[in-house]
Amino acid sequence: MDQKELFEKMEKCGVVPVIAIESPELALPMADALIKGGLPVAEITFRTKAAADVIKTLSKERPDLFLGAGTILSVDQLLSAKECGAVFGVAPGLNPDVVKKAREIGFSLFPGVITPSEIEKGLTFGIKVFKYFPSEAIGGIPVLKAVSAPYGHLGIRFIPTGGININNLEAYLSLPQVICVGGTWIAKKDVIAAKKWDVIEKNAAGVVEVVSHIRG
Ligand code: 3PG
Repeated sequence: MDQKELFEKMEKCGVVPVIAIESPELALPMADALIKGGLPVAEITFRTKAAADVIKTLSKERPDLFLGAGTILSVDQLLSAKECGAVFGVAPGLNPDVVKKAREIGFSLFPGVITPSEIEKGLTFGIKVFKYFPSEAIGGIPVLKAVSAPYGHLGIRFIPTGGININNLEAYLSLPQVICVGGTWIAKKDVIAAKKWDVIEKNAAGVVEVVSHIRG
């Protein structure tokens, strides 16, 4: 998938559910709940041992799911994400080795930034979209607006993540520099473990309602 198509999909989804899943058996029902709720996108984080298997399963069994890998902290995880079938990757910080490798292998990676210096480092690697983390803890929308202002003319965009939920979603999505947001609230680890698929479906449907209101 080329970057243009990828960015369009992110914009359309509005929200990327950030998912930590402990067991590959839970992958398909979890994805089906998101799909039924109308939000066919997932970022499977490398915070559990099952992550690679989950990504592999979803990529094979649910090819229409817009599938990313998250918490990519090393080159090995990056390579595994691509090999298992993720079409994008997200990292909490900007690790130059990982960013360089992603570029070399043609994999879309969105590294995390918070400061102007980190954004400028990313620009030297040709990054156009950054994760912005941890958004709410660092000051939320006012800080995002201030930090991104000097780069507005470059057209760079952000995926704010951290402390975002259904209540502040609309405010974030209304910002032109926000391509989409990330968050765990749609499919929390304990909700997945308890197999509460109806809760995930309902959360996804709630997101779709807000996104369609803002982005038509
Ligand atoms: C992340 O992993 O990107 C964040 O921990 C998500 O933050 P949240 O749990 O506040 O959505």
